[in-house]
Amino acid sequence: MTSNTLKTLPPDVDPQHLPKHVAVIMDGNGRWATRQGLPRVAGHRRGAGVLKELLRCFKDWGIGELTAYAFSTENWRRPTAEVDFLMVLFERLLRKELAEMHQAGVRITFLGDLSALPLSLQAEMHRSMVETANNEAVRFNVAINYGSRSEIARACRQVAELIYLGELTPEAVDENLVAQHLYTKSGYDPDLLIRTSGEKRLSNFLLWQMAYAEMYFTDTLWPDFDRAAFHQALLAYQDRDRRFGGPSKSAKPALSA
Ligand code: IPE
Ligand code: IPE
Ligand code: MG
Repeated sequence: MTSNTLKTLPPDVDPQHLPKHVAVIMDGNGRWATRQGLPRVAGHRRGAGVLKELLRCFKDWGIGELTAYAFSTENWRRPTAEVDFLMVLFERLLRKELAEMHQAGVRITFLGDLSALPLSLQAEMHRSMVETANNEAVRFNVAINYGSRSEIARACRQVAELIYLGELTPEAVDENLVAQHLYTKSGYDPDLLIRTSGEKRLSNFLLWQMAYAEMYFTDTLWPDFDRAAFHQALLAYQDRDRRFGGPSKSAKPALSA
C-alpha cells in the first residue's frame, strides 16, 4: 500500500474504536543508522522526520493524542556527543516546525524534568507550549528527560508537602489525586503503547499511566515506522479484548445453566 492511499483512515480500521491516546517508544534509530553504514545521529535525524509524519497521520485519521518518548532520564548515560546532538536537534526541530504544528491545530506539551535541559531549549519549549495552548486538533506530548519513577517520586513529594502544610489530609490521597500531580495530569491514559525495534520493555516510560494500555511491539526500526506500520498497530489494537478486569465482552453469563 502506498502512503498516498493512507491519507485517510484505512477502511479496515473501525473509526468507532480508535485509541484516544497512543504512546510511542521510538527505538532503533542507532541500529537503523548502523545498518546503513551511517553514524548513529543520522538515525535520530531521520527518526525526527518519522515523528513529524506520524503526527500528521494522527490529524488525518482523527486520533486525538500522541505521547512520544524522545529522551529518558537514563539517556544521559550516552556519549556526550550524542546527547549534545539530540539537544540541538530538539531545539532546531521546535524552531522549524512550530509554525506548521500551530497551523495544524496541534497543542504541544513536554513531560519530564525540563530544568536540566539547555536554557535555549527550555526557552523554545516554553514558547511552543504557550503559543499552542489553545489548540484542539491533536495533543502532542513529548517526553524529554522523562523517567516514570522520578515522576512518581515527585508526585509523592508534592502530596507530602501539601499534607505537611495542612492543606490536605492523608485520607484525601487517592488515585485521582496522585494522577493530578503527574506530568500528564490533564490527559487520558494511553490506550495503546507502540515500541519499535524489537525490544519488549517499558524503559521507565509512563508506568502509572499505562496500567491498562495495550502493548504493541514491532521489529520495525523507528526510522522505518510509516503509516502502513501504524495501520498494522491499529489493526492489532482493534483485535484486542480490553477487559479492565471484567469479563470478556463475548463471555457467557457466569451463572447460566
Ligand atoms: C531511540 O533510538 C532514540 C533515543 C533513545 C533518543 P536509539 O538511539 O535507542 O537506537 P538503538 O536502540 O541504539 O538502535
Ligand atoms: C527508550 O529507548 C528511550 C527512548 C526511546 C527515548 P532506549 O534505547 O534508551 O531504551 P533501553 O536502554 O534499550 O531500555
Ligand atoms: Mg534504543
